[in-house]
Amino acid sequence: MSAAPATATAPAEPLLVAEHLMKRFPNGVQAVDDVSLTVHAGETVGIVGESGSGKSTTAKLVLRLLDADDGTIRFAGTDLRGLRGKALRDVRRSLQLVPQNPQTSFNPKLTIGDSIAFNLTVHGTRSKPAHARAVELLERVGVATGHAAKHPHELSGGQLQRCAIARALATEPSLVICDEAVSALDKSVQAQVLNLLAELQRETGVAFLFISHDLAVVEHVADRVVVMYLGEVVEEGDAAAIWRAPAHEYTRALLAATPERLLATRDAAAAAPTP
Ligand SMILES: Nc1ncnc2c1ncn2[C@@H]1O[C@H](COP(=O)(O)OP(=O)(O)OP(=O)(O)O)[C@@H](O)[C@H]1O
Ligand SMILES: [Mg+2]
Repeated sequence: MSAAPATATAPAEPLLVAEHLMKRFPNGVQAVDDVSLTVHAGETVGIVGESGSGKSTTAKLVLRLLDADDGTIRFAGTDLRGLRGKALRDVRRSLQLVPQNPQTSFNPKLTIGDSIAFNLTVHGTRSKPAHARAVELLERVGVATGHAAKHPHELSGGQLQRCAIARALATEPSLVICDEAVSALDKSVQAQVLNLLAELQRETGVAFLFISHDLAVVEHVADRVVVMYLGEVVEEGDAAAIWRAPAHEYTRALLAATPERLLATRDAAAAAPTP
């Protein structure tokens, strides 16, 4: 028997390691102030915090949609801040986004099928297999495949958000950042979409960085939680432990403000049919 390679025993590096991220906007707002977080392969990390706490800015820094003023971002062993051009485009196959508002994130002039396929053709897949894959993905996320030929305004918010998930998963990413991905949906549809994400994670091993101002939603999906307040991480750790015994005053206030919603979401999710 051959000896195991030396790397087999080395602890796996997290998929995403962001350290000491800083971002100040020209208006003087320090939106992100020394934020560090990690995401391991296959896990869901929640970022929670009130409006304006810097969640989306953190996401944009990780996605390289904005440039950080300082800090480091390693994704799948690569220094993201050092990437430019084709190398950055290539990484984006593995690092995808489900944005808050599907109504504005789909090009109104393209059909749903074209939009999903575009996320593959832009990375070099030919048009025909890209469209075939788009139809497969729609089926997987519980949207009738006939909707591939429709335009965004012809679909409901819940259907469109499923399409946005299909579009993000098209490239078989290892990390998907969901920025308020279910916030615009009503509670029962929200629960169905959260269940769908959990199923897709079990099937594909994708990791999620799941951003929400809604603690109930984060509680439902996250293995670990990062709590942000005024651009800083004030608390982080195992989700269940934080809910049980929040260490920071701000987390306690957040939890105290939403106890009934925690139960409501959990019950809705348990009752929701899986697609
Ligand atoms: N492009 C920008 N220019 C100037 N200030 C900005 C810009 N984008 C965000 N900000 C400010 O940075 C801070 C953090 O904003 P961010 O959008 O990251 O918060 P958030 O936690 O995502 O909030 P929400 O829950 O409302 O989405 C806020 O004070 C916001 O007004
Ligand atoms: Mg935001």
